[in-house]
Amino acid sequence: MIGKIPHIVQYQGSKRILAPRILQYMPIKFDRLLEPFSGMAAISIAAAYDNRTDAYVINDINSPLIEMLREAVEHPQNLIDSYTDLWSEQFSYGENHVQHYYDVRERFNNNQETPANMLYLLARCVKGAVRYGKSGNFNQSPDKRRHGTNPKTLAANVYEISGLLKGKAEFMCRDYHDILEMAKPGDLVYMDPPYQGVTNARDSRYLSGVSFDDFTESLKILNRKGIDYLISYDGKCGKKEYGTELPENLHCRKILLNAGRSSQATLLGKDETTFEALYISETLISHCDEIPRQLSLLEVAI
Ligand SMILES: C[S@@+](CC[C@H](N)C(=O)[O-])C[C@H]1O[C@@H](n2cnc3c(N)ncnc32)[C@H](O)[C@@H]1O
Repeated sequence: MIGKIPHIVQYQGSKRILAPRILQYMPIKFDRLLEPFSGMAAISIAAAYDNRTDAYVINDINSPLIEMLREAVEHPQNLIDSYTDLWSEQFSYGENHVQHYYDVRERFNNNQETPANMLYLLARCVKGAVRYGKSGNFNQSPDKRRHGTNPKTLAANVYEISGLLKGKAEFMCRDYHDILEMAKPGDLVYMDPPYQGVTNARDSRYLSGVSFDDFTESLKILNRKGIDYLISYDGKCGKKEYGTELPENLHCRKILLNAGRSSQATLLGKDETTFEALYISETLISHCDEIPRQLSLLEVAI
């Protein structure tokens, strides 16, 4: 894949950087891409950029996030205009521009979950990490060093993404089970559930827990229906492993993708590389001619 894949805004756990490598394990063409845990939809955007299919189902349980993505694709100019107004407003606060973030956060928590408010909070919050408190309020702090993505940069990216996905993507805000039920042979499902360390955290409005047992049961159903899938799941950094491996009886092939030097480790003065697991479903390996050829490209195959 040549060129620069567009993206909207930072998002914790985004697969933006790994996307070209994950695409190497997808068939060249397939009927439809289902992303039940889409987050910022990095994989759908990359697949559209590489012209792999003309149909996308982009789903996440976080509805303001999905509404923001929908607006970006279907009404790019509206999103750009309202974001530009919001972003410019912060400069009228002078040195106290951080207060502007808190004001927008309060509006968001008072029933103004507009696409532009969501986008601005993501652009300015620490690590692009969505956090909700006990009461269900968005409570992530601002990154005091940032003003948030410049509207001009945003506009170029949003227009490109809209051009790639308009008329091709269906946006949904459901629990992932509902999306897996829609899958048919010929589709490809890419799953990137929340990190296991944080999944069973206190239930809140948007980040419902994903139980390991429920998830593996759903995968068995996909296997029975002969549906192709890829999953980003566990991984390791240095000697430290995170997340539980998926069970062997799912018959997936596990690949470890080199995700580069861990920024946390670098901060601690260590030189450690993070590897992120990618599981390839049995059906995908068995019927896809392209996969064995690509296996020679693997960083680590288990
Ligand atoms: C690791 S992130 C996905 C990141 C994404 N691959 C990207 O590139 O931006 C996991 C996502 O799962 C969503 N999520 C959590 N529980 C869910 C559920 N039960 N059903 C659907 N989505 C869920 C979260 O809101 C979060 O956006």
